Amino acid sequence: MGFTGSTSALPPGPWGPLYYVNNAPETPVFWHQNVWLRPFLLEFDSISEAVRHLRAIQRNWAPVLHTNFRRGTLIDSLMPSVSRRPRTFPWLLPDSPLGAWTLLDDHRLVGSACCSSPFPAGSIRFEEDKEGPPSRAYLKLWESLVRCRRWPGPGQRCLDAGASPGGWTWALARLGARVIAVDRAEPEPRILAMTGPDGLPAVRYIKHDAFTLDPTEFGPVDWVFCDVACYPPRLYEWVERLFTAGIRANFVCTLKMQGTPDQDTARRFAEIPGGQVLHLCYNKHELTWIKLD
Ligand SMILES: C[S@@+](CC[C@H](N)C(=O)[O-])C[C@H]1O[C@@H](n2cnc3c(N)ncnc32)[C@H](O)[C@@H]1O
Repeated sequence: MGFTGSTSALPPGPWGPLYYVNNAPETPVFWHQNVWLRPFLLEFDSISEAVRHLRAIQRNWAPVLHTNFRRGTLIDSLMPSVSRRPRTFPWLLPDSPLGAWTLLDDHRLVGSACCSSPFPAGSIRFEEDKEGPPSRAYLKLWESLVRCRRWPGPGQRCLDAGASPGGWTWALARLGARVIAVDRAEPEPRILAMTGPDGLPAVRYIKHDAFTLDPTEFGPVDWVFCDVACYPPRLYEWVERLFTAGIRANFVCTLKMQGTPDQDTARRFAEIPGGQVLHLCYNKHELTWIKLD
């Protein structure tokens, strides 16, 4: 059995869905499900040896098998179980690190204790609500908030730009927050009729172009959400204007791509201090920029 932290020992990929890059690329890569940040190669003789070695590093691991499924499944069955069941929201992510591993063959395993995604194999699914929300867009909002490890609650004010038909507004109002929903198209009436924990209206609708709305129209907010269908540079200019206007809040914004992804604007968002650009499991041809205050 041999264990090496040296990546030079790793054979060239791809290994199934996994790509191996020897050095960090100069341009950041946003379109990935999970990055294994410190890959190692483990050569082992028996299943129990592989298990012992992984467990000695840390408790939680999730496999990404693409070959040798029977052996991989046996190894996984002897590890502490990591649930992959759909989650109910809100769900507070555990702090403990979650590693990933795969088999190259019966005696070689590549793993990483440290990964960019906190979800097993970079993937999360939620128990969906098929009746409440008017669109499935709330799922990417839930995923963003799980990654934030916090979410709006009673007493907090949220701006929801590009709110119609009302999926994000529905999810925010359900958390007990007040929502200022801005869109040129009206959200569904039942969304506008939602009430807060105090029985008062939870949603105020402003029919306006979100990007030309004066911030004094909505006042101080704790969270800024934006799912407006627009070119990413337009979103970036708007965010800059909000910063200039002194808005201090948590931001969750979708960067919607048309055709070839706008890598330059994604990079500019990623360079905003404290921010990160993610490709969520529930994102389509889009990225999500998150910046917590
Ligand atoms: C993908 S939908 C938003 C879905 C919404 N987040 C939900 O959960 O139901 C995009 C919305 O952006 C709105 N939109 C596009 N340009 C806008 C603008 N300049 N200002 C406000 N809303 C805009 C569209 O009317 C549309 O309702």
